[in-house]
Amino acid sequence: MIIKSIESLSDGLNILWNDNSSSCFPWLWLRDHSESQVDLHPDTKQRQINVFSNPPNNSVATVLLDRISKNILIKWEDESESTLSFDLLQSTSEPNLPQSNAMNSSSCWSDPSEIKIFPEITYQGFMSDGGIKIWLNHIQRVGFALVIETPETSDATKELMERMAYIRNSIFGGFSVWDNKLENPDDTAFTSLAIEPHTDGTYVHDAPGLQTLHCINRDSIGGENQLIDGLAIAEKMRHENPDAFNILCNVNIPGRYIKPGTYLEAHRPLFRVNNNGDVIQVSFNNHDRAPFRLKNDQMVKFYAAYKIFHNLANDSSRQFEFMLNPGKVLTFDNWRLLHARSSLTGYRQLCGGYHNREDFESKLRSV
Ligand SMILES: [Fe+2]
Repeated sequence: MIIKSIESLSDGLNILWNDNSSSCFPWLWLRDHSESQVDLHPDTKQRQINVFSNPPNNSVATVLLDRISKNILIKWEDESESTLSFDLLQSTSEPNLPQSNAMNSSSCWSDPSEIKIFPEITYQGFMSDGGIKIWLNHIQRVGFALVIETPETSDATKELMERMAYIRNSIFGGFSVWDNKLENPDDTAFTSLAIEPHTDGTYVHDAPGLQTLHCINRDSIGGENQLIDGLAIAEKMRHENPDAFNILCNVNIPGRYIKPGTYLEAHRPLFRVNNNGDVIQVSFNNHDRAPFRLKNDQMVKFYAAYKIFHNLANDSSRQFEFMLNPGKVLTFDNWRLLHARSSLTGYRQLCGGYHNREDFESKLRSV
């Protein structure tokens, strides 16, 4: 949109756009959002102006539309000046609340055959200029990406992960190398047992955003991995089982992780939605669900809703199944996809770790 004209009104600055729509920005908002070097630190982009501790005189002296610098310049009666870029005014032309960008442009898939462009990139491609953007777009689009032909070492895997961002620390450490023969495993993930579809970290307030796994040694049978698009299940339930969908948006389900000296617990609905009703996070781990009780009639409805989700997640036709072979590094969106694993016999060694959600979103905004 291009600014056609501006008009000073008593309650704000009215901007008429070239599509004949208009936006009236309150004077206090304009002062608070000034991008001048005095009001917004040019390096840190942190707000320097404080419209609260020293209430400014918001009487306007002059308003200038500068089409060359693409700014609106406001002079106030107290001699101070505000600068607002056309970009900022355009991006806030309608009342809006910041939204997460990680699930923008998502293509839900209810069946792996619906994934039109397979989200795969070679290690060489990933490590070259522009590679990470392709990789991020794969994850944003379908919830996961595979990097193939990766050196079969933990060092190469760690380097790959650090290209995205620093690796998150957790109860399991940061970047980790483990095998399925641990004597006292902390989690079923470190065993040979089958694991049902789940998301990680239902027992932490800020579940890991991305998870990366690389099997660097494999002498085993079984152990196939499955990925399921939780967002696709959410949208299916929203349309076909709206009451169940609403229950899963509203009941805070506790997750827990217990070992000697540690008792983690967090509460989240299975579907977390934003103010627009968009699903922004799926959290489901039947293994880690902690005891809780609702009123009996609500508990019955909750179990019925949870069962619908559980059965859809466990429907093999919704699952993308593959083998994590050495050289193939899997990264998936743990706020969207569920992952599962078949049982195995034999030996395998894996490595990997987590990234925070905000770092994933940051990278999406900045590459
Ligand atoms: Fe897991």
